[in-house]
Amino acid sequence: MKVIGSIVEMHKASLDLRNKRKSIGFVPTMGALHKGHTSLIEKAKKDNDVVILSIFVNPTQFTAGEDYHSYPRDIEKDKTTASDSGIDYLFLPSTDEMYPEGYKTFVNVEDITEPLCGKFRLGHFKGVATVVLKLFNIIKPHKAYFGEKDYQQLLVIRMMARDLNLDIEIINMPTIREGNGIAMSSRNRYLNQKEMVSAAAIYKALKISQEMVKDSERISQKIITEMERVIKNEEGIKIDYISICDPDTLEDVKIINDRALIAIAVRIGNARLIDNCIVEVR
Ligand code: PAJ
Repeated sequence: MKVIGSIVEMHKASLDLRNKRKSIGFVPTMGALHKGHTSLIEKAKKDNDVVILSIFVNPTQFTAGEDYHSYPRDIEKDKTTASDSGIDYLFLPSTDEMYPEGYKTFVNVEDITEPLCGKFRLGHFKGVATVVLKLFNIIKPHKAYFGEKDYQQLLVIRMMARDLNLDIEIINMPTIREGNGIAMSSRNRYLNQKEMVSAAAIYKALKISQEMVKDSERISQKIITEMERVIKNEEGIKIDYISICDPDTLEDVKIINDRALIAIAVRIGNARLIDNCIVEVR
C-alpha cells in the first residue's frame, strides 16, 4: 500500500494509472474505519484494477458546534486496516492543502439538500459535495463507492455527478450493522455501553415500520407515531426527525403507494446517529 499525502503526488499517481489503462475504484472516508468502510473497499476491489482510499476529516461539512475537533482520529490503526483490506493507495491530504487560505469555491446541490439532515446541519451537504468533487478531481476514479447508511449524501453525490457531467460511476452499497442491528458508524465510538443498548431502538423502529407496511399500513403518520413510541421508550434518545419520503426527491410521502424511504436521525449522549430503510408496496 502506498501512502500519499500531497495532492500533486496523488494527481500524478492517478494520471499514471489512467495512462496505463488501469481502472480506478475510489472510496472516500473520514477514517476511524469499520466494517461499513471495508465493505465498500471489498466491492471496489472486485470491480477495479486499483483501489484508492482517502481519509480526510473534512472541516467544511461540520457545522458550528459539531464534533469536528472531537471526531475520532486513529490514523495508525486505520493504516493497518487499510493495508489489511488490500487497498493500493491511501490518500491522506492535509487540511491546509485542501483548503488553503483564501479558499472560496463551494458546490451547492439544490433542493435535496434541504430536508432531513439538511434542516439540522445547515451547510453540511455543501461541504460534502465540495470535498467529494475535489477528491474526484484529484483521484480521477472510474467508479466511486458510497454507503446507503448516508442515504441523503448518496443522493447528493449522484445528483452532483449527473448535473456536472462527471464521468464517474457512483455505486451504492448496503448498510453494515452490528449484531443488535445498529448501523456501524465512526460516531458509535461516542456511545457508552448503556447508550449502545438504547441505540438499538433505532433499528427496532425501522423494523417495525417495515412490518407495518407489510401488514398493509399505508398512512405515513401512523407509522411515524409508532416509531416515535418505540424510540421514546428508550432512555436518553432525542429524535431529530423521522421522515417517510420519496426516495428520489426526499419530498414527504403521506400515503405510501409504491417505494418510500424511511429515514431517522437521533441524538444519544454526544452522538448524532442516522439510519434508514426503503419500503416497497406491491
Ligand atoms: P464516513 O462517515 O467516513 O463514511 C465513508 C463512507 O462509508 C460513506 O460512503 C458512508 O456512507 C459509508 N458508510 C459508513 N457507515 C457505513 C455502514 N454502516 N455501512 C455501509 N457503508 C457505510 O461519509 C463520509 O465519511 C463523508 O461525508 C465523505 C463522503 C468521506 C466526505 O467527507
